[in-house]
Amino acid sequence: MAKITTRLFASTGLFALAATAISANAAPGSDDVDARAEKALAEMTREEKVSLLHGRMLMMVAPASRPEGVTLGAGYVDGIPRLGVPPQIATDASLGVSNLMDMRRGDVATALPSGLALAATWNPALVRDGGRMIGSEARAKGFNVMLGGGVNLVRDPRAGRNFEYLGEDPLLAGTLAGAQIQGIQSNHVISTIKHFALNDQETGRSSASVEMDEAAMRESDLLAFEIGIEKGNPGSVMCAYNKVGGIYACENPFLLTQVLRKDWGFRGFVMSDWGAVHSLSALEAGLDQQQGEQLDAKRWFSTELISALNAGPLAESAVDTAARRILRSLYAHGLDTHPSTTSSIDYDANGVVARRAAEEGIVLLRNQQNLLPLRAAARKIAVIGGHADIGVLSGGGSSQVAPVGGFRKVEPVREGVAASFARKGYGGTPPLEAIRHAFPTAQVTFLDGSDVQAAAAAARVADTVVVFGEKYATEALDQRDLSLDAGQDELIAAVTAANSRNIVVLETGNPVAMPWADKAGAILLAWFPGQRGGEAIANILAGKVNPSGRLPVTFPARLDQLPNPTLPGANLPPPSKEDRANYGINTNSPAFDIRYPEGSDAGYRWFDRKAAKPAYAFGYGLSYTQFAYSKLQAKGGKALTVRFTVTNVGSVAGADVPQVYVTLPGKAKRLIGWDKVALAPGEKRTVTLTADPRLLASYDVPKRHWTVSAANIRVELSRSAIDPVLTAQTRIDAATLRP
Ligand code: BGC
Repeated sequence: MAKITTRLFASTGLFALAATAISANAAPGSDDVDARAEKALAEMTREEKVSLLHGRMLMMVAPASRPEGVTLGAGYVDGIPRLGVPPQIATDASLGVSNLMDMRRGDVATALPSGLALAATWNPALVRDGGRMIGSEARAKGFNVMLGGGVNLVRDPRAGRNFEYLGEDPLLAGTLAGAQIQGIQSNHVISTIKHFALNDQETGRSSASVEMDEAAMRESDLLAFEIGIEKGNPGSVMCAYNKVGGIYACENPFLLTQVLRKDWGFRGFVMSDWGAVHSLSALEAGLDQQQGEQLDAKRWFSTELISALNAGPLAESAVDTAARRILRSLYAHGLDTHPSTTSSIDYDANGVVARRAAEEGIVLLRNQQNLLPLRAAARKIAVIGGHADIGVLSGGGSSQVAPVGGFRKVEPVREGVAASFARKGYGGTPPLEAIRHAFPTAQVTFLDGSDVQAAAAAARVADTVVVFGEKYATEALDQRDLSLDAGQDELIAAVTAANSRNIVVLETGNPVAMPWADKAGAILLAWFPGQRGGEAIANILAGKVNPSGRLPVTFPARLDQLPNPTLPGANLPPPSKEDRANYGINTNSPAFDIRYPEGSDAGYRWFDRKAAKPAYAFGYGLSYTQFAYSKLQAKGGKALTVRFTVTNVGSVAGADVPQVYVTLPGKAKRLIGWDKVALAPGEKRTVTLTADPRLLASYDVPKRHWTVSAANIRVELSRSAIDPVLTAQTRIDAATLRP
């Protein structure tokens, strides 16, 4: 079990700041864990050690050769029964127990909303609950490793896996990843933070190299991992497909040894992404386990490794190091003492966790004349489009969860994407059913939206219209642009023009453009809302739930505002036949460099730097009540502490997300803290936040530490990245922060 410890930063001057962290290094009983790993290692044969270092996909193993009674998931590593070392049975991932490889058996699990929806809650406690719930389902299905903890930053709104991740800000994403990991691991299930590092787009994910200067990495993507690891203490880190600085992430000594081990003191093990290992040198670079080995050109960490040991070029100590780290994690997280066994699951109770997450993650973007919540006036409601009669949309790829009740509809994804991998699946409570339930006396009609004229006519005669828009997203495929899926912008434009009492509900995994926004009465951004998302939408429409989600990602007004107006690699030739069979991405595309001109200024920081106005800013979201801010005080010096009061000055209960941004001289602003504050009407709360000193620092590459320069800084108490309500100035002292 991990223990909360205080991590002290050595300082020059008197700037000795403390950051709360969970450190694997100081976990109680860690000596015991190390001693047990050492003892087991001493008793193991070379073959046994090597057996811990590679995992296979059991779906690709002939049924007769599969270990008995093992649940099929993403990966399997043999145990060593004579020494009590448990097998590692791994499943995806962050949104629930994904059953991609096993859908034919009809297995289902509770589907949480997408990562961006979870991030939009800005609520670590809720995200922790979600992690606890999905970890418990993993355990009850016989898994003991979850490949959950996706914390890659959103750098481009078109990236295919944005929906799995936790937004564009390292503090927000890292904090929430840490919370999710804590929740998962409370079940004696190892959680895997991923994909380390800079796997921020799918195009060229297996061939491209991200070229970024080290300070920029340390202050952005790596910081998200650093915070996530400190707070969550994951048993494992998954290295990414792509190259960083010309070297594959899974054989990159800078990432795996310098940063992860030496600088951050990570004590768990590193597993590869599935099909991300390219040589045996990965072992000495710091990779401990080759997972999904059948997808690689060679079984590097089994047959190749044994040959290298036999032939002499590789020292057995490299194998010992990797095996020791794996054993240590198994013991540290109690996989041996608390073995996962299949047991029943309370899907109703778990569904409530999914519903609450959806309710808090939905963002109200627009609400003209307080159209929402809908009150008694809504007698004749026309619901249109988005398969609202069938279910809600989910993102595709390895994270996809077949929800309880199964997929009611699966549509083909565009040509060039393997249908077995990327499903456009609809499931969960249909929004139409939930709306009927929430408005029992209203006459609720439905049209699927395929006939735009008919939809507009229905909108005209209804007193209120709820029109759904979708944008599908999947692993292995980036988006072409920010438009909704084919025909839907036209549908929404026609419906919103036909009736001003319209509510647009968006189910999307990414930021989207809203060319019809001026005509929208209200816009609810539901993301991929998970299996109880239909009810969450209806509860917000009816005012049973007051929306409190805030954007964890910037919605640009136009693509030319982005650091890369054209997605890197988007002009490559279309996928070859072979690539198509292999997920549909340009896996074998020629190597190319990915450059992110924003460097550490991902998302809203880039917009700040360029003084560009987004369509909807990071941190933005409306409520059915109003909140007033007062008494902002910022105290600098050795530590930056900010204090302020939030009051609910409206007439209904609600939760606010006051955000504090700091601008250092010559730098783009950045989020240094927030709180999620639930208040009854008239109630007030004083909030105190202390900045993590790294957020005030620059990373000094030659000296390999963080440096805070003495400076006068501007502190904003804000409703979003562009909406400061109160500002203050203070001075911070110079300091050096050493990990
Ligand atoms: C994904 C990982 C996933 C793994 C196992 C890969 O395609 O990138 O996120 O955990 O497959 O399913």
